[in-house]
Amino acid sequence: MRHLMSPMDFSVEELENLMDLAEDIQNVPAKYAHKCDGRILATCFYEPSTRTRLSFESAMLRLGGKVLGFATADSSSAAKGESVSDTIRIISSYADICAMRHPKEGAPMVAASKSWIPVINAGDGGHQHPTQTLTDLMTIRSLKGSLSDMTIGLCGDLKFGRTVHSLINALIRYENVSFVFISPPELRIPDYIREDVLIKNNIPFKEVIKLDDVMPELDILYMTRVQRERFFNEEDYVRLKDFYILNKEKMSLAKKDMMVLHPLPRVNEISVEVDDDERAMYFKQVRYGMFIRMALILTLLELV
Ligand code: NCD
Repeated sequence: MRHLMSPMDFSVEELENLMDLAEDIQNVPAKYAHKCDGRILATCFYEPSTRTRLSFESAMLRLGGKVLGFATADSSSAAKGESVSDTIRIISSYADICAMRHPKEGAPMVAASKSWIPVINAGDGGHQHPTQTLTDLMTIRSLKGSLSDMTIGLCGDLKFGRTVHSLINALIRYENVSFVFISPPELRIPDYIREDVLIKNNIPFKEVIKLDDVMPELDILYMTRVQRERFFNEEDYVRLKDFYILNKEKMSLAKKDMMVLHPLPRVNEISVEVDDDERAMYFKQVRYGMFIRMALILTLLELV
């Protein structure tokens, strides 16, 4: 039995297979409409979510399966003090696969170690968010044709943004990928990513504060929300929340074929005037997320 905790759990070849499958599902959905008949997905969300939870549910429903679960910790027995280890043992009797989001780093990993069904990490604190990374990879591959030969700028909250951490881990395995990290000094990428992931693997990267200066060199700009829920005090959040606002003026500095991605939800970091720019791909990205989750469910349930 296989779980998904980090994008590194899949080899590059397995990721390719997963994306090929997602592409086929997108092209010929009818072929997959009953693959999960009689199966149940549990979504156990101890932290808020719109896209991740609903795209998992939509994915399972489109495969012919059914869904159950909870959307907040206080609507589950966690409010009575039940541990994640006990909860997953219960869920294992009710469902065939589980997607879990938790504010504590490592909680889905603990669940996986006690589970009798595949567990998917749907975001654990500021740590990892592998299914968002699958979404990002699928979006880049579909729209750009490949995951190699690019300069990707990651902008905003690089310290607490789990989507950033997972995406860096995944992208270093492709040829000729370099990174530009754009953040205020307080929200730089964590040391373990800089040292153990980038420097150790000789990956080219630079860290800057100003977005304007690097705009012309980027093939992809990955914007992120300042993660309010992970700040220790509100004052720091208020000071940093509008540090970057991508607008038309900034977009005019970028390459004609640069792509703007964002895991969403957006707050102020991308002005709505950018939505009409043909380089804005963040709403398309959402749709790829559903197809790749369909492919993931089929793969972990060994139905392909
Ligand atoms: C992200 C997350 O939850 O980490 N959202 C998502 O799943 N698409 C990004 C965020 O909340 O800022």
